[in-house]
Amino acid sequence: MIFYGNWKLNKTTKEVMEFFDSFNNFVTAEKICFFVSPALIQTAVEKSKFPIGAQNICYADFGAYTGETSIVQALDLKCQSVLIGHSERRSKFFETDEVVNKKVVLCAPHTECVLCVGETKEQLNEKYQVLEKQLFTALLGIEKQSLQNVIIAYEPVWAIGTGLTPHVDEIRDTIDFIKAILKSKYDVKFKVLYGGSVNSKNVAEFKKIDNIDGFLVGGASLDAQSFEDLIKA
Ligand code: 13P
Repeated sequence: MIFYGNWKLNKTTKEVMEFFDSFNNFVTAEKICFFVSPALIQTAVEKSKFPIGAQNICYADFGAYTGETSIVQALDLKCQSVLIGHSERRSKFFETDEVVNKKVVLCAPHTECVLCVGETKEQLNEKYQVLEKQLFTALLGIEKQSLQNVIIAYEPVWAIGTGLTPHVDEIRDTIDFIKAILKSKYDVKFKVLYGGSVNSKNVAEFKKIDNIDGFLVGGASLDAQSFEDLIKA
């Protein structure tokens, strides 16, 4: 299974070193990656036994984009994956589906992309339409070979950092829906992760969901022991 940690805007260089001093001893066959802030990528890559990814990438590959990080730079730093369209990028940095699409177009030919989608609480009644639009717009114009590099992270916005989660049946149905519409449109079998308040206590129930490929974990990935417990649960 896939267990990806999204550290968001957390940790100092020292804390990254301390985390991997402990977590590097963890032996597992599961697929793991940590998405860290651009300022910490180099430290994390040097220190971690596990792959490191970028939390966000500019929609352009170079030029006058002050404050951004390019896919070229992320690959140069040995990032092995990029998060695209996280709900915090959408809500706090006004990223539209069209911007998300530009980023996937730029990154997917070169590296694994974790494309985040999910409905807000207000959109719950129209969840399937919202997800369909987010997915189809984000993946517009991407060749089949590059689509194989895309993993979907289904993260209901209302479940992120709130301690709330959908019922397992709802997660199963939503993942079924995502896989089915993508298979029928692109003839590609996508992997789908669930994210939103996953922790070492509730993850065992979620692991039983037959169509789930793994998890994108925020808060519970920040502490080495708690992330290890979650993976082993
Ligand atoms: P939490 O696990 O803290 O709810 O965050 C989920 C998330 O946003 C991962 O990308």
